[in-house]
Amino acid sequence: MKHPERAMLTRRTVLGTGLAAGLAAPFAGIVAGHAATSGPARTIRIRPAPADVRLVPEPYGLTPTWCFNGAVPGPELRLLPGEPVRIEVENGLAEATTVHWHGLRVPNAMDGVPHLTQPPIEPGERFVYEFAAPDAGTYWYHPHMRSHEQVGRGLAGPLIVEEPSPPRVDRELVWMLDDWRLTQAARITDDFGSPRDLSHNGRVGNTVTINGRVPDAVPVRPGERLRLRLINGANARIFALDFGDQRPLVIALDGQPVTPHEPPDGLVTLGPAMRADLILDIAGTAGTRSAVIDRFYRGSDYRLVDLALDGEPLRAGPPDWPIALPSNGLPEPDVKTATRHDVVFNGGMMGGMVMQQMGAGGGTMPEPPAMRDMMMAGRMWFINGVAATGHLMEPVMTLERGRSHVIAMTNATAWHHPIHLHGHSFRVLSRNGEPTRHREWQDTVLMAPRERVEIAFVADNPGDWMFHCHILEHQAAGMMGVIRVA
Ligand code: C2O
Ligand code: CU
Repeated sequence: MKHPERAMLTRRTVLGTGLAAGLAAPFAGIVAGHAATSGPARTIRIRPAPADVRLVPEPYGLTPTWCFNGAVPGPELRLLPGEPVRIEVENGLAEATTVHWHGLRVPNAMDGVPHLTQPPIEPGERFVYEFAAPDAGTYWYHPHMRSHEQVGRGLAGPLIVEEPSPPRVDRELVWMLDDWRLTQAARITDDFGSPRDLSHNGRVGNTVTINGRVPDAVPVRPGERLRLRLINGANARIFALDFGDQRPLVIALDGQPVTPHEPPDGLVTLGPAMRADLILDIAGTAGTRSAVIDRFYRGSDYRLVDLALDGEPLRAGPPDWPIALPSNGLPEPDVKTATRHDVVFNGGMMGGMVMQQMGAGGGTMPEPPAMRDMMMAGRMWFINGVAATGHLMEPVMTLERGRSHVIAMTNATAWHHPIHLHGHSFRVLSRNGEPTRHREWQDTVLMAPRERVEIAFVADNPGDWMFHCHILEHQAAGMMGVIRVA
């Protein structure tokens, strides 16, 4: 790889080249190389449809997937903050769909939630999304209709909102992580929504990909400064990445800047739908390899990918270029005057036991016989005692618009849950009563079993917003609600 030359190209050229080479997407020309904003909205076209793609290397065959523009992941959309775009979605699937712009604080009507914010896009039909992404950062897009199967079959793509003046790096990489359950013939298994996946930790697969391929070594240069944008696009797999000899610094979480810091316990932990931006100064000598190990599931560590160091060192030590990202200027919640709300999540296997131990019963979970009936009907997870059966429902809570709100959440289950709120980013204030170090902004917060997490935000985006677990099997089995901002 010719990194010095690359470093001297303009950033947009580098990105455009990377896109064309990396994805070979038929629509790459539309999404790459756009000029700075002015004039009418730029049009982007994405088409969800079945396509055979190469996820695993030869001698395996291609894998039949559902994906955007014939590629897994879908085309990397690159926008600028405030840039008006029109995204035309033409549904080439045999079933209805929608597209949700995960983490973008868009107007409610553009949020892509079937029935709640728009009618489903029927096969052969189109829907045009028009918005301007307010915040720079790393995001992604995916259907919000039968997500556990549509996303699980490959419908997802990265969405990057570039800072107008990003911190200087030698190279930027986007790694969209995904997880698949494949047969020996490299076909996606058809067991979507199995009772076991719904009631345990979701559809965790047997094949992990980076940008739609079982990863080979990633060539890097000693001394090179990388910005690595990680996106967890898996249905259910949680990653805890150990970069070994490398010392990554986290500069953004879920798109929003955070005080640069080493990841806690040296592990970059990402639940489904979560993102992290890292700065990585490649340490080591040419000819060596540096492994990235996923350590999330105890006893099932595996080597995700190797960084293969090659070439003359770019510099003697880490450059002293600043790495902190400029704030996106989100409205600051006033915790003292905030309205407080409580949310309890429960259900799943062993749920009753955890409820008892935590004393979190209090009429928030149905009695055992009713529980059994609900579980038989595929409703296994509850938000304040209610298991959703679709996207239309009474709100879990109504938040007064323009005010600060604190939501105190209790995970009264034996499982992890990445909890996502649409339309807003929130500060994570505390975990089990302990203030967080960085009061990070997130749109999806990973809750450990039995954990209590407090979040705060200004409810400034009016509408009915989904609030759900992003383990897509949990969402499908009821762990979804609506928060109304009015
Ligand atoms: Cu990533 Cu409700 O969505
Ligand atoms: Cu969950």
